[in-house]
Amino acid sequence: MNPIYQRCSIRHFQMEPIQEEDIQSLLKAAFSAPSARNLQPWMFVVVEDIQKIRRLRDFSPYAGPLETATLAILVCADLKLNPSLDYCQQDCAAATENILIQAKSMGYGSCWLGGYPNEDRIEKLKKFIALPENVLPLWVIAIGIPNENENIKDKWDDHKIIRLK
Ligand SMILES: Cc1cc2nc3c(=O)[nH]c(=O)nc-3n(C[C@H](O)[C@H](O)[C@H](O)COP(=O)(O)O)c2cc1C
Repeated sequence: MNPIYQRCSIRHFQMEPIQEEDIQSLLKAAFSAPSARNLQPWMFVVVEDIQKIRRLRDFSPYAGPLETATLAILVCADLKLNPSLDYCQQDCAAATENILIQAKSMGYGSCWLGGYPNEDRIEKLKKFIALPENVLPLWVIAIGIPNENENIKDKWDDHKIIRLK
């Protein structure tokens, strides 16, 4: 079973902690992502404290998965490493997808919770944790053991492919 094909967003989780070695695997996957000029302009805030995860829920009206998640990863861009926020975003998105796939491959569910470019959400994330001035929080990943049926979607679309042979 290819975890890329099997991944889907999970928004309800069981109240089980994530093992430390699994957190390490998630971060290793993140750090394995490609990045423009190999600048690796990311920073990850790993939130294991359940009360803090629940508090983080308020950063966005669409962050419901943080009501039951047992791990949250706040993905941030380090603008000192790459001053181009456009490139930082692309690199951080690649790292985020790696985390989602790694989570799936280990039996966890996850959901990407959008922040940037919504200024209100970014401000709330900045209030959640004091970060250096050059580090911009972008979005959050909710992770945990699934407590809902998977909804794996078939998104294949011939109309979105141009083939040149
Ligand atoms: C940039 C981005 C932001 C997202 N923000 C949210 C969000 O705030 N809340 C949420 O429940 N899901 C969010 N999602 C998950 C999408 O809703 C989900 O990926 C999409 O519906 C496709 O479903 P799938 O992930 O199960 O394939 C986001 C996904 C991306 C890529």
